[in-house]
Amino acid sequence: MMAQYPNCYRCRARLILTHRTGLIPNPIARFQPQVRQPMHPTDNLSSASHWHILGAGAIGCLWACHLQLQQQPVSLLVRSDSKLQQFQQPWSLSGQSQAEGIQLQAELNQSESPISRLLVTTKSYDTLAAVEAVRHRLSKDAVIVLLQNGMGQQQQLAERLPEVPIYVGTTTEGAFLSGHQLVHAGSGESWFGPLNAVAKQLGEAPLRPLLSLALHSGYDPQILNRLWQKLAINAAINGLTALHDCQNGVLADNPEYHQQMTQLCDEVERLAEALQQPLFEQPLITRAEAVARATGTNFSSMLQDVRHRRRTEIDAINGYLCDQAQTLGIDLPHNRSLLEKIRQTHPTV
Ligand SMILES: NC(=O)c1ccc[n+]([C@@H]2O[C@H](COP(=O)([O-])OP(=O)(O)OC[C@H]3O[C@@H](n4cnc5c(N)ncnc54)[C@H](OP(=O)(O)O)[C@@H]3O)[C@@H](O)[C@H]2O)c1
Repeated sequence: MMAQYPNCYRCRARLILTHRTGLIPNPIARFQPQVRQPMHPTDNLSSASHWHILGAGAIGCLWACHLQLQQQPVSLLVRSDSKLQQFQQPWSLSGQSQAEGIQLQAELNQSESPISRLLVTTKSYDTLAAVEAVRHRLSKDAVIVLLQNGMGQQQQLAERLPEVPIYVGTTTEGAFLSGHQLVHAGSGESWFGPLNAVAKQLGEAPLRPLLSLALHSGYDPQILNRLWQKLAINAAINGLTALHDCQNGVLADNPEYHQQMTQLCDEVERLAEALQQPLFEQPLITRAEAVARATGTNFSSMLQDVRHRRRTEIDAINGYLCDQAQTLGIDLPHNRSLLEKIRQTHPTV
């Protein structure tokens, strides 16, 4: 009988973990991994790396479960005793990937053990404070990976820690927590790549354990282009759905909302052009409309934040775009107006 290796693509189908893929069309980009190396017993690269995940919410727990299922050492970092308690019982994973009885390890930020691989999955606005809280634990060879929506926090962290290799990622996986159950609601794809010079020098190697999980993931040395694509789509959809309290698909169907989405897209394209930042081959509005239709019944994360009276990520999305425009002396009146309306209605701190 053939041996099974959990990190090996050839053996993956045999894993106890059930992962259903391809059920939800990926609206942003077709998955074409550019550089990917199989993890077989002959590959001992990074197999002993212990991953610490800062941000034990939906995305952090999804990656923690998948690392654990691939027998990669992983611990979640939490900021309160009450959160720590949640990890005393086993977790189950349902939806697009399924597994039972996953015992996740968790520890407080202020624990002492050194951190060499840090995956940050907090909301964008918590990034700097969260990393600061564990900074004293970073080992000399530490590598940080930020997997979040929005932009700005990554560059701020890179400025703060120029000597630490910083990678960034973007994902279209969908997940939420429900008690001790992690619901993997939508299967998507994730891309990772280097942000600063030290990460570019190291290349893909430190990320291999993340790239070999049963989540569609790839490495892209030009990762900022993908972050911009996600930012542009989020800027066109998320804030408007929060403002109008509607599902994504309504933006494509309602002529007035569609017009507003077009105005946002035109401004984002103008800014991207001024920054010489490529977006899509098609006009942004065409892509945004396609995404709104493909995810038509979804309630965007920003709308859900607004409904639950949680802080939104608007500052790292439309806010980031307005800041970039301001430094170039460009006005984005529709993005600014949306930003101000969401800020007025919903707290940003
Ligand atoms: N969920 C999705 O389907 C999805 C999909 C694509 C992208 N994203 C993006 O991924 C990122 C994470 O999203 P999410 O849905 O996983 O968010 P989430 O469920 O709100 O999780 C964020 C976690 O970060 C923790 N945190 C904040 N500050 C911390 C600190 N100083 N120390 C330790 N933990 C800290 C929070 O802890 P507390 O519980 O203590 O507050 C919370 O558990 C966001 O940028 C989001 O836009 C999410």
